[in-house]
Amino acid sequence: MKPAVTSPTPDPALFDAVVNLCKRRGFVFPSAEIYGGIRSTYDYGPLGALMLRNVRDAWWRSMVQERDDVVPIDAAVLTNPKVWEASGHLAAFTDPLVDCRNCKERWRADQIGDSCPKCGSKDLTEARPFNLMFKTFVGPVEDSAAAAYLRPETAQGMFVNFLNVLQTTRKRPPFGIAQTGRAFRNEITPGNFVFRTREFEMMEMEYFVPPAEAASWFEYWCTERLDWYERYGVPKEMLRLRQHEESELSHYSAGTADVEFLYPWGWGELEGIANRTDFDLRSHSEHSGTKLEYFDQTSGEHYMPYVIEPAAGLTRTMMAMLLAAYDTDVVAGEDRTVLRLHPRIAPYSVAVLPLSKKETLTPLAKKILRTLQRRFVCDYDETQAIGRRYRRQDEIGTPLCVTVDFDSLEDGAVTVRDRDSTEQVRVPIGQLPGTIAERLEAELDR
Ligand code: GAP
Repeated sequence: MKPAVTSPTPDPALFDAVVNLCKRRGFVFPSAEIYGGIRSTYDYGPLGALMLRNVRDAWWRSMVQERDDVVPIDAAVLTNPKVWEASGHLAAFTDPLVDCRNCKERWRADQIGDSCPKCGSKDLTEARPFNLMFKTFVGPVEDSAAAAYLRPETAQGMFVNFLNVLQTTRKRPPFGIAQTGRAFRNEITPGNFVFRTREFEMMEMEYFVPPAEAASWFEYWCTERLDWYERYGVPKEMLRLRQHEESELSHYSAGTADVEFLYPWGWGELEGIANRTDFDLRSHSEHSGTKLEYFDQTSGEHYMPYVIEPAAGLTRTMMAMLLAAYDTDVVAGEDRTVLRLHPRIAPYSVAVLPLSKKETLTPLAKKILRTLQRRFVCDYDETQAIGRRYRRQDEIGTPLCVTVDFDSLEDGAVTVRDRDSTEQVRVPIGQLPGTIAERLEAELDR
């Protein structure tokens, strides 16, 4: 697959083009738009929902399905405050908040200089810590005993279930617990489309290791995770690994590296890989009174594993993949927009397109669609001229189009068109599912 961008230069025009495409084609809509929306909150449309699912599945495939040392869980979003007390989030999950006394706008102190980015006034309040967790109440009474928090990360669900998983799966370190799911952060300055939102989806894995092996597993997961983005079509030159400075480290981390992506505004975080040491298991052991340890029968030793955590944002990854895939070229003298998405990531794998709406073609086209739908996510489109329909599929990244024409009724074959090369080959209908699977799998095993 040809990478869409070959030079590591941020491209602000790309951002507008992708945001525009997302709205126009139904990837992402402003949430509750008919009521004026709600700031920096988005709904994922038909194509966005399909693509999110594909990104999540691709992560799951490499982090859970293709491994025998990682098991999944699916923990609750509403969480007991004691979890966040033990994890340090109640005390330390804060950003420094400043108010502009002139225009009343609020900012993250670490993201601005000494003047308000909106009005330029230097009359700013002292920075004060602002906790990013969303608080709510469970049941009808809004008192402190009923308080609960929406999780700001999925990680804690895996720490508090450490013993449950150990006992029910008989895994032993090194092993991991993985989950994907929504997380909520009351960000002071959300923005850049779905890059930073208050509600987003995460894909996290906690890998429990003997403490002496933590450093080498940290290196291992940095490499694995960087490779994963490349495997799913993000060009190498748009990715880099950056080690955190001491001053940037989260309250739980002994070392963190970010997988960074070249966004249209410059390099920024895509995923964090942290060595969380035994901070979480130790703290939950102390707060809950339940020892979260592993008993090594060979050495007869009880110990608290260290944790290496690759933590990725699903919604942010989707945006990065769209930015990386966006391309324009000229086909048969006509401009086209094409999303060169990896076939496993593209919302649809195949589009079935009868050459015309004529009744004679519809039954065969629908029959082919039904057969393909059992194995692939398919689109079906019979409106407009075929050239226009190819462009529409190119623009949403559909890797293959199957065209059913009048010859198909005679020769039992259809045309398969490739999104990237626009090459067309004739394939017997009986061989179609196998041919398509081969083309999609070939990309996967690249
Ligand atoms: N458990 C570790 C943890 O939560 P993080 O770096 O705060 O680490 C992990 O978050 C990933 O989640 C980030 O790399 C980013 O991709 C995504 N993420 C974090 N905050 C986000 C937000 N407000 N909006 C969208 N994605 C976010």
